[in-house]
Amino acid sequence: MTEPAAAPVIAIDGPGGAGKGTVCRAVARQLGWHLLDSGALYRLVALDAERAGVALDDEAAVAERARRLDVVFQPDGDEGSVRLAGQDVSLAIRSEAAGQGASRVAALPAVRQALVGRQRDFCRPPGLVADGRDMGSVIFPAARLKVFLTASVEERALRRYKQLKEKGIDASLAILSEELGERDRRDTARAVAPLKAAPDARRLDTTDLSIDAAVAQVLRWAAAVYPGTQKK
Ligand code: DC
Repeated sequence: MTEPAAAPVIAIDGPGGAGKGTVCRAVARQLGWHLLDSGALYRLVALDAERAGVALDDEAAVAERARRLDVVFQPDGDEGSVRLAGQDVSLAIRSEAAGQGASRVAALPAVRQALVGRQRDFCRPPGLVADGRDMGSVIFPAARLKVFLTASVEERALRRYKQLKEKGIDASLAILSEELGERDRRDTARAVAPLKAAPDARRLDTTDLSIDAAVAQVLRWAAAVYPGTQKK
């Protein structure tokens, strides 16, 4: 059971930097629904393994730690915060290194399996906006609204660059672009849950679209697919 009737799901998948995080947060806020940032879970798994001195390619050990991960998401502030074993790691998981680590552990089938139940637990009334790569294809296949959000690599690199700068994290646009391309290749080529649109997903290209316009489009789709679920 992936989508109890009482909890509708909007599954938003796509490559890194396409604007998923911002769009999902805005949609969840406007509807008053829960938010699942599944990428944050993979980042947390990578950070946790690194801190414990576990090699990121030691599949069994990383998966075992992923199953027991002590994580608390708190909705405070604009982006919310996340604690790993009681420590605030909201900033640490956003580094490029954590993103690269996440992409590596996300390629391990046992790690993905270890996180399935934890992700499905986010599906609670009044509804869930799920942000990731395999939300519509694997985790919530019964979601009635699936969106595949894309943008060109150049535009995505530029957005990530600005995001990091705003947070005071040093970055190079050329390196970010290269790393995004590399991560896309790894996420698309992996054997388990590769990044690809579910056959019933609606594609939304945000290269020339503002965040507000993308959010408005998702909300229009949501109103059509889940009538009566809009926030009062
Ligand atoms: O969206 P993000 O940059 O926080 O994701 C970090 C990495 O985690 C990314 O390389 C792909 C992986 N990921 C995944 O494989 N499946 C998900 N549902 C979410 C993220």
